[in-house]
Amino acid sequence: MKIQGKHYRTVWLKPEDPSVVQIIDQRYLPFELVIEDLRTPQEAATAIKEMHARGAGLIGAMAGYGMYLAALQTLGAKFTPANEAFFEEIEKQGAMLKATRPTAVNLEWGVNRALEAMRANPQNPLQAARETAQIIADEDADYCRRIGEHGVEIIAEISKRKNGAPVNILTHCNAGWLAFVDYGTATAPMYAAFERGIPIHVWVDETRPRNQGARLTAYELGQHGVPHTVIADNVGGHLMQHGMVDMVITGADRVTHTGDAANKIGTYLKALAAKDNGVPFYIALPSSTFDWVMTDGVRQIPVEQRGGEEVTWIDGWTEDGVKSVRLTPAESPAANFGFDVTPARLITGLITERGICPASAEEVYKLYPEKR
Ligand code: MRU
Repeated sequence: MKIQGKHYRTVWLKPEDPSVVQIIDQRYLPFELVIEDLRTPQEAATAIKEMHARGAGLIGAMAGYGMYLAALQTLGAKFTPANEAFFEEIEKQGAMLKATRPTAVNLEWGVNRALEAMRANPQNPLQAARETAQIIADEDADYCRRIGEHGVEIIAEISKRKNGAPVNILTHCNAGWLAFVDYGTATAPMYAAFERGIPIHVWVDETRPRNQGARLTAYELGQHGVPHTVIADNVGGHLMQHGMVDMVITGADRVTHTGDAANKIGTYLKALAAKDNGVPFYIALPSSTFDWVMTDGVRQIPVEQRGGEEVTWIDGWTEDGVKSVRLTPAESPAANFGFDVTPARLITGLITERGICPASAEEVYKLYPEKR
């Protein structure tokens, strides 16, 4: 998608030096556009853990590029050509990447996919890792675009019912292109509607504590020209009671094949409010976000807990650049649960790259019969 009219992806190989992975360092958005160079798998791991690059799909792509950096480092340092010792070392690097964040299943999926590709091509594991990273990134962008094509039909239908009055869509956190490689998931139907000339307006939850909604979703919608309004996290229920939300679309970090969806903390409360007010609540996800093993999301999905300082301090823009200020009494402890799980019963539908289905194992398997 575009920043100041120029097309960007969120991760790519540096054109003049393909041993370097480049990302948009999202800690500085919306205030500054900073591109970071990553040269080692350790740097890729830090970028994921410290959320320079974040969001389920992008974390999956980072896993692919991180494994490419691991192959570069390991082959160059010790093992040429690849032998069993190489694969032992590369699996350690994969484990290091997987340990950076627990909730988004895309991370494990991306690392495993790269490992399998390298094992399948022991003659040239570096080429296999590089190609896999590129394939994961391209596939992510393509799947998100297709999610947009499916999801826009729901928006078009609501627009028709409203005789062309703007469709009000509420979203939580950032499941936009910055959370993926391109397009995003929750935002893809919005961008598709905008391109088709369907009038929409997006309510953007600020999404405390890290404010990915206020900072990232608002930024990308604004760059694209999509009408939107940032709201405090507690506003959505009120808007729904007063008929000011036609639908909710959020992304997800892990969705069990039974339809329970982990997404940024606060999503569950929006789903409850939507249910109470008869507002359709959709989760948009690519197939890399499905967990084909877990069956009970609330009990089984690991929920990341991050440092309390993300709650007690807040970043903002000053004349001297980005600064942090304290929000709470110095002695008050804070808890920081990163995600919650919305049970399938509260979800109207899952918008995937293969189409839209109810949130149940039976319906998910109809779209993905090969996973049965
Ligand atoms: O902690 P983050 O920023 O990596 O969390 C991910 C998210 O932004 C949201 O949960 C999002 O809605 C799903 S990721 C596409």
